Amino acid sequence: MTAPLIDPFQRAITYLRVSVTDRCDFRCVYCMSENMTFLPKKDLLTLEELDRMCSSFIRLGVEKLRITGGEPLVRRGIMTFFNAMSRHLDSGALKELTLTTNGSQLEKFAGDLWAAGVRRVNISLDTLDETKFAEITRWGRLPQVLRGIDAAQKVGMRVKLNAVALKGFNDVELFDLVDWCKDRDIDLTFIEVMPMGDIGNEDRLDQYWPLSDLRAQLADRFTLTDLDERSGGPARYVRLEETGQKIGFITPLTHNFCESCNRVRLTCTGEIYTCLGQEGMQDLRPALRDHPGDDAPLEQAIRAAIGLKPKGHDFDYSRQDVAGKMSRHMSHTGG
Ligand code: GTP
Ligand code: 5AD
Ligand code: SF4
Repeated sequence: MTAPLIDPFQRAITYLRVSVTDRCDFRCVYCMSENMTFLPKKDLLTLEELDRMCSSFIRLGVEKLRITGGEPLVRRGIMTFFNAMSRHLDSGALKELTLTTNGSQLEKFAGDLWAAGVRRVNISLDTLDETKFAEITRWGRLPQVLRGIDAAQKVGMRVKLNAVALKGFNDVELFDLVDWCKDRDIDLTFIEVMPMGDIGNEDRLDQYWPLSDLRAQLADRFTLTDLDERSGGPARYVRLEETGQKIGFITPLTHNFCESCNRVRLTCTGEIYTCLGQEGMQDLRPALRDHPGDDAPLEQAIRAAIGLKPKGHDFDYSRQDVAGKMSRHMSHTGG
C-alpha cells in the first residue's frame, strides 16, 4: 500500500485540480486582460502526459480530480482525456471526476461527460443579465451558457454556479440569482474576488465585495443555518430555511480556510502549485519526460513538491498596495 500524500502541516492531499489549457473563449475582466497572450500550444502537456501525471497522483491517494482551465472544454481532444480518466472511477481509486467550466461548450459536451462518469459540474456565472454578462466576459453570450446548463441538468448532472461577488456589478442581483437557482434546483456559491493576474485597468479593490456583507444581506431576508458539510472544496455552506437552498461562500480574504486545505494544482505545462495564493511551484516535467517508461521518479517528485506546501496564502486587501497580488493568472493554475 502506497503511503498517502501528507504535507508538512499534516494535511492529506486528496484533491487535484488540473488546468488542461490556459485558453478561454471568454475574457472575464477579473481574470484576464482583453489582449491576453496565451502559451504556445506546443508548451502544453500532451493528453498522454496529462494522463500519466493524473494517474500518478491517483496512485498516491488523490480521490478527486477537477479539470479546469482556462476553459477546459476548448482544449482539443479533451473528451479523450475524460474518457481515459474514467478508468480510475471504474477501478474505485477515484471517487470524483468533475470540472469547472464557463458553460459555453456544455451543450455540446454534457452527454459525453456524463458517459465518462462526470456527475457534477461547477459553472462560472456572475450575472443573469445578458448585457452585463457580455460586459463581464467581454463578449460571452448568456443564452449559450444557459443552454449549456440545461443540457447538463438534462443528462442528470448536479449543477453548481460559482459567482464572483462584485460590488457595483452583481450586488444588485443577489436575490435574483438566489431565486433563479432555487427555481432550477441549482446550488450557488459566491467567491470573493482574489488579487491575481495582470488584468489591465480594472481595480479589484473597488470591486471587492466581502462575503460577510453579502451574507448580512441574505440574513435580512432569510433565516440562515450554518452547515457543517463540505464538498471537499473550500466553500462553507449555509441553508436558507425558507427555501431549503444551500448557498456556499468561498472567502479566502475574510475567512481563510487554508488550515483544511486538501488540494494542489497542476498547470497545463506540468508545474505543481501547492497553493493558489503563493508563487512557489515545482516543475514536474523533467521527472515526467526524462523517464518515459517509469513513473517512480515522477511520484518521487510529486512527494517532494507536497513536502514544500506552505501553510497558507498571502492575499490581503487591507494592505493598500494589494499585497499578495500575483502576476500569475488564475487561468494558468485553474482557479
Ligand atoms: P466543490 O467540489 O464544488 O467544492 O468545488 P471547488 O470549490 O473545490 O471548485 P471550484 O472550481 O468551483 O472552485 C471555485 C473557486 O474557489 C476557485 O476557482 C477558486 O477561485 C476558489 N478556490 C478553490 N480552491 C481554493 C484554494 O485552495 N484557495 C483559494 N484561495 N481559493 C480557492
Ligand atoms: N478572483 C476570484 N475568482 C476568480 N475566478 C477567476 N478569477 C478570479 C479572481 N481573480 C473564478 C471564476 C471561476 C473560477 C474558475 O475562478 O469565476 O468561477
Ligand atoms: Fe475564462 Fe473562467 Fe477566466 Fe472567465 S474566469 S475568462 S470563463 S477562465
